[in-house]
Amino acid sequence: MGFTKVALVGASGLLGQSILRHLQTCTTSNFEITILRRLDAGDKAVAQLDSNVHVKSIEYYNHDMLVDALRGTEVIVSALNVAAAIQIDPLLLDAGREAGVKRIFPSEYTLDILHEAAETFMGESDARVRHARQFSSLLATDSISATTMVSGMFVDFALRGHHGNYNPRKFEATLFDGGNVPATGCSSDFIAACVVAALQMAEDQTRNKRIHIAEVKYTGRQILEALELEAGSKFTVTQVPSSQLQEKLVLAKEQGLVRERFILPVMILNFAAVDENGKPYGAGLLEDGLRWDGGGFLHQKRKTLAELAHEALCA
Ligand SMILES: NC(=O)c1ccc[n+]([C@@H]2O[C@H](COP(=O)([O-])OP(=O)(O)OC[C@H]3O[C@@H](n4cnc5c(N)ncnc54)[C@H](OP(=O)(O)O)[C@@H]3O)[C@@H](O)[C@H]2O)c1
Repeated sequence: MGFTKVALVGASGLLGQSILRHLQTCTTSNFEITILRRLDAGDKAVAQLDSNVHVKSIEYYNHDMLVDALRGTEVIVSALNVAAAIQIDPLLLDAGREAGVKRIFPSEYTLDILHEAAETFMGESDARVRHARQFSSLLATDSISATTMVSGMFVDFALRGHHGNYNPRKFEATLFDGGNVPATGCSSDFIAACVVAALQMAEDQTRNKRIHIAEVKYTGRQILEALELEAGSKFTVTQVPSSQLQEKLVLAKEQGLVRERFILPVMILNFAAVDENGKPYGAGLLEDGLRWDGGGFLHQKRKTLAELAHEALCA
């Protein structure tokens, strides 16, 4: 038996909106949804709401307010942006425990942060590594447990150019190490479908698990080819060796450059990282995720890179 009473945090966000849509349109479970949003969230609207959805505006740093808001909830699904999640997911964990919440899905939708290579490139003191460790180290005796959906890269973001190495509008791309390093990723819509599938699985199948999910296997070159095919035009390609990214990362660490320290490990591990034998390290290559079926609750078909490129360029 899975969970039906869900507190969704960050429902107005890019991933949060998709999760909300999948919760509301799910035909195999009737979810009771409470959306938590910042008191000072402004006008950013949450998508169309059904009658079984309630919205609570919260001051996350007010523990008692948070505990009150979470009473009656079985599971917290955080879809906060990464900077907010690092601060607020631990607060949700503490308040959730006190409110009798059984499960939390932290907002850690990325490559496998606890993979040896990720810890090496990010550094043990990286806030994302500490965040992941906190949720992966909950004790079996704790009243609250965690489920982390390890999604790899958001392929739809990459195709739209959000990672900075593809620019579909200018027909430009950057390939690292020839663009031949394989990795896996998901569209944000597929991740949302996986979250909703995991919520419906028997609790013990997802308790304190880091679940690998993947929609497509890609290389940087295959993403380029999918974009070129969809755009009907060749891109201007800049070739960059991953050693250059690694040198920049060393400098960024020395100089305390926050943005670069954040982005470079992700670029290296999603697009470029191979060991001295030329094999991918694997932090962004979650091949078992290509077979994950959510215990039979995942009904979303995996799209191809060509289909995702079509959607990205048509949007
Ligand atoms: N691996 C990848 O390639 C990739 C790419 C994109 C995202 N992601 C991951 O996906 C998850 C969600 O990211 P997203 O891009 O969907 O996030 P987002 O749209 O930037 O933000 C999500 C929500 O977080 C809340 N929020 C933002 N700033 C906040 C603050 N300072 N304090 C409290 N709440 C705040 C807002 O909700 P309210 O306004 O409703 O309060 C916002 O709508 C993150 O874990 C992120 O790392 C991964």
